[in-house]
Amino acid sequence: MNNGGMENEISDLEDDVARRAAVSRTPAELEAIRTEVFGRRGGRLSRIMATLPTMPPAQRAQVGLQANQAKKRIEEALAAAQERLTDAEMAVSLGHKYDVSFPGTAPRIQPIHVLRRTLNDVAEFFRHRGFAIVMGPEIENEYYNFEAMNIPPDHPARDSMDTFYLPDGNLLRTHTSPMQVRAMLRYPSPLAILVPGRVYRRDALDASHSFTFHQIEGLQVDRGVTFGHLKAFARDLCRHLFGPGRRTRFRPSYFQFTEPSAEVDVSCGLCDGAGCRTCGGSGWLEMGGSGMVHPKVLREAGYDPENLSGWAWGLGIERMAMLRHGIDDIRVFSENEPAALDQIA
Ligand code: DAH
Repeated sequence: MNNGGMENEISDLEDDVARRAAVSRTPAELEAIRTEVFGRRGGRLSRIMATLPTMPPAQRAQVGLQANQAKKRIEEALAAAQERLTDAEMAVSLGHKYDVSFPGTAPRIQPIHVLRRTLNDVAEFFRHRGFAIVMGPEIENEYYNFEAMNIPPDHPARDSMDTFYLPDGNLLRTHTSPMQVRAMLRYPSPLAILVPGRVYRRDALDASHSFTFHQIEGLQVDRGVTFGHLKAFARDLCRHLFGPGRRTRFRPSYFQFTEPSAEVDVSCGLCDGAGCRTCGGSGWLEMGGSGMVHPKVLREAGYDPENLSGWAWGLGIERMAMLRHGIDDIRVFSENEPAALDQIA
């Protein structure tokens, strides 16, 4: 083998590798070329290198130099091809996961639910007036829901609160009032509490009725508490919630657990008492029931009605929110339709 032959073989090898590396499509293809050239046994360049020691010195120097340069260039060609493949692979895999031309979806950040905000505002008002907020169980028993509230078994007043009974004889509370007795049994007087919470009734769903809604029970018991305290708290709460111009009115009513009893009304914000469609022509909107705690209820809770008196109310939180935001359908609160809730925010 003469010198020229060896030189040609090396430059042919170099050309061949450069051409094939440039069009290679997979890392495996490149790896195969690498082995073909540099493989310890039988690699095309390795074989040429192996013959160097057998050459005359002058030829050895020349061929050795050429082989080393070829080795370097082949490695560069393979590295460039490798980089090209890695880039292409990355572009493909990114392309699978992200379509950068696809329109973005903004994350939905919901405002605090309107019922929670209404409740927060009521709590804010009472926090400055020394009331504690207490919570009670939604699963109640007949005793606290009815009997302790002076509604004996078979009393027709139970019919007005169509009740969901559970298989074990317990029930879903129909009002937050049972917490009056629970709280009085637990804490000594003087007592001033608010009890927000969910209540349940077997009502058919329509624009103004729901099988579940929220009430906020208020209770203040002390020596010398009068109906005047109830009136003042109701008036000031309504002004706080609906604006300074709003008026409150007390309509005689009847509840088993209060004596006397009254419905709390607030003047209609749309017609200011003149009568319009929103208030059904009456000029007033109903907020809930109230009254002076019945002596029997105080006694049942271990409080002495001779020395102590109290007012109580159960106001509807949905109703407050409806009045404040001009919502005419109670279903809005429980359906949690984001578009509808956004409008209220
Ligand atoms: N619990 C009554 C209801 O749900 C509302 C009520 C009336 C609560 C008078 C009271 C009250 O605390 O004094 O219909």
